[in-house]
Amino acid sequence: MNVESIRLINFRNYMDLFIRLNNKTNVFIGKNGQGKTNLLEAIYICATGKSFRTNRDKDIINFNKSAAYIGAKVKIDGNDKLIEIKYDLNGQKRMKLNKLEIKNQRELDSGLSVVAFSPEDLKLVKRGPVERRNFLDMSISQIKPVYKHNLTRYNKILIQRNNLLKSGKSLNEIKNLLEIFDMQLVKGGSEIILYRLEFIKRLSEIAFNIHNNLTKNEEKIDLTYNSTVDTKDMDKKSIEKNFIQQLYLNRQKDLQLGVTSVGPHRDDMNISINGIDARVYASQGQQRTIVLTLKLSEVEILKLERGIYPVLLLDDVFSELDFERRNYLVKSFSNLQTIITAAEIIDLDQLSNIDKTIFYIENGKIIMKE
Ligand SMILES: Nc1ncnc2c1ncn2[C@@H]1O[C@H](COP(=O)(O)OP(=O)(O)OP(=O)(O)O)[C@@H](O)[C@H]1O
Ligand SMILES: [Mg+2]
Repeated sequence: MNVESIRLINFRNYMDLFIRLNNKTNVFIGKNGQGKTNLLEAIYICATGKSFRTNRDKDIINFNKSAAYIGAKVKIDGNDKLIEIKYDLNGQKRMKLNKLEIKNQRELDSGLSVVAFSPEDLKLVKRGPVERRNFLDMSISQIKPVYKHNLTRYNKILIQRNNLLKSGKSLNEIKNLLEIFDMQLVKGGSEIILYRLEFIKRLSEIAFNIHNNLTKNEEKIDLTYNSTVDTKDMDKKSIEKNFIQQLYLNRQKDLQLGVTSVGPHRDDMNISINGIDARVYASQGQQRTIVLTLKLSEVEILKLERGIYPVLLLDDVFSELDFERRNYLVKSFSNLQTIITAAEIIDLDQLSNIDKTIFYIENGKIIMKE
């Protein structure tokens, strides 16, 4: 799968851009603030329907304009697809696939899948659970579009439940409605948990081998799902039963705090290296290797699930990795289309022998040089 061309109109600092991409490696070089990350963001949106840096669609529209457009021509398994997204200032976002409007989120599978890696991701290991949940959610959504739909529905019910808890009414007054929300939460939430369990199990197996290679067999990585719901039996019925029980047990506490204290929105992924919790003990270098392992594992799992390699987006990460890790990363390029950004061409010595196109970005414009 590869992105053949991309068109941006009034998207962030791009007023009108059209570029054709190399189906192997593409390198975008530019000084700070010229639009490198913006370009990767546009491709990411085409794949996932959302940005990796904002939840507010308005941020994406150029400061002086009232609408923005992203269009990407992609080739998937020999078929051409045109993905188009239009934003306007009154908050409307419209998507089209091959000129047909996509009406609901359930249909939203553009067919394009990406794995993005930026210096921000290096915090994945040490930061709180939000980042790791987000990693899981974005990865699984690309494998199973229905997961994204479930998640959106779950979050809506969660907000309603929390609003009810915060309403200041007594347990007796809200009990009936609370029970309805609980049932809905458990139904959707248990599915989310199951998907995550399944995903982490597979990811862990793939990551184990990659991490072994990256560390010359010195470090054994293990990924496990750390749930607020008992998930010992990986089966839907028992997860539902445990989830409802937990909600019941935490009712008083939830009412006092005005939040829902159990459920997939509170879960985490544990990462351990040689049996030790990486979140607490991993050194800087180990964290880098773990994140590289996770990203390359995500590439492999997408290939396994969808039968085709995703597009790899690397935002400024070369300078963050040492010689050996870069080498390892570059080796994986031969399988897929890669779009790389860097501030300096010096960063890219290891790319000298691979098929690539270099683009220079200046202030939202691409300048081709020899
Ligand atoms: N909605 C918008 N309208 C116009 N310009 C915008 C908008 N959003 C962001 N920008 C501009 O885009 C530029 C940032 O682009 P981007 O983050 O892609 O830079 P970059 O090349 O990745 O830089 P760095 O090397 O520092 O990461 C900034 O100058 C910012 O002001
Ligand atoms: Mg950037």
